[in-house]
Amino acid sequence: YRDPASGNPAVVVGLSPNTLAAFDAVCPHAGCAVIYSAGQRLLVCPCHGAMFDPTKAGAVVRGPARRPLSPLTVSVGPDGKIYAIA
Ligand code: FES
Repeated sequence: YRDPASGNPAVVVGLSPNTLAAFDAVCPHAGCAVIYSAGQRLLVCPCHGAMFDPTKAGAVVRGPARRPLSPLTVSVGPDGKIYAIA
């Protein structure tokens, strides 16, 4: 989705049936958009291969990125839809 506050691409990962983790998808290395790899259970940058762990607050698993992804807040509404919280 697109973060309404920044306009940046963002990603939501379901960590468990009741737990979501959301991040600004802009890679802190050079700005490419990360994508979720279901096989690796990591957020992966297609540009230079950085990897981030959504279960550890977006921590860097593999460089060249040195900083974690920026966390975002989302919530599930009574309609079951996921909403970005500013
Ligand atoms: Fe993501 Fe370089 S822009 S690893």
